[in-house]
Amino acid sequence: MLAKVIIVSAIAAIAEARFGQEGAIQASIQTLNTFGQPGQAATLAGQTPGVLLAGANACAKLALADQIVTALGNDPAVIAAAAQLVGAEKNFNPSAQSIPTLCSDVTLPATAALRGIVPLVDPAVLGSDVENANAASSLTKPFSAAGLSVADVAKAQGFSNFTAQANA
Ligand SMILES: *[C@@H]1O[C@H](CO)[C@@H](O)[C@H](O)[C@H]1NC(C)=O
Repeated sequence: MLAKVIIVSAIAAIAEARFGQEGAIQASIQTLNTFGQPGQAATLAGQTPGVLLAGANACAKLALADQIVTALGNDPAVIAAAAQLVGAEKNFNPSAQSIPTLCSDVTLPATAALRGIVPLVDPAVLGSDVENANAASSLTKPFSAAGLSVADVAKAQGFSNFTAQANA
């Protein structure tokens, strides 16, 4: 009985991790409230869901991740939370698009510690197995990204089933 409960909650946690990721990222940025000016972490946290919307520009979350580091500093806790945002899956509406959009701006993110991280993509997309494995490993060991956009890095690492999107 107990084992069953544990399995059910583990499955629920996995589903939640995927569909509730904006919430998780917002929460982890919210917890950075000891950094920056009072209220700054909360304000930045409140901006995270908007940049992860299906219709948001793919570069917007990278610019927000830079803003988080600029405002809150480069403490490892701040970098880790901002890195989560860079590596996050942007919402995806499979009935409106068949492939994800990745940012093609070579200047983003500007923060050195956030470069070389590639994002998760919807598991329904062909090639997502490669990309999602790359996304996970890039959080601990970023790929080489000198002169490359996130889109360029993803492609160099074997995932190209996406639309490159310039910063708007
Ligand atoms: C890209 O992914 C879509 C959705 O899974 C798939 O239909 C398409 O064939 C893929 N394209 C390439 C070039 O892999």
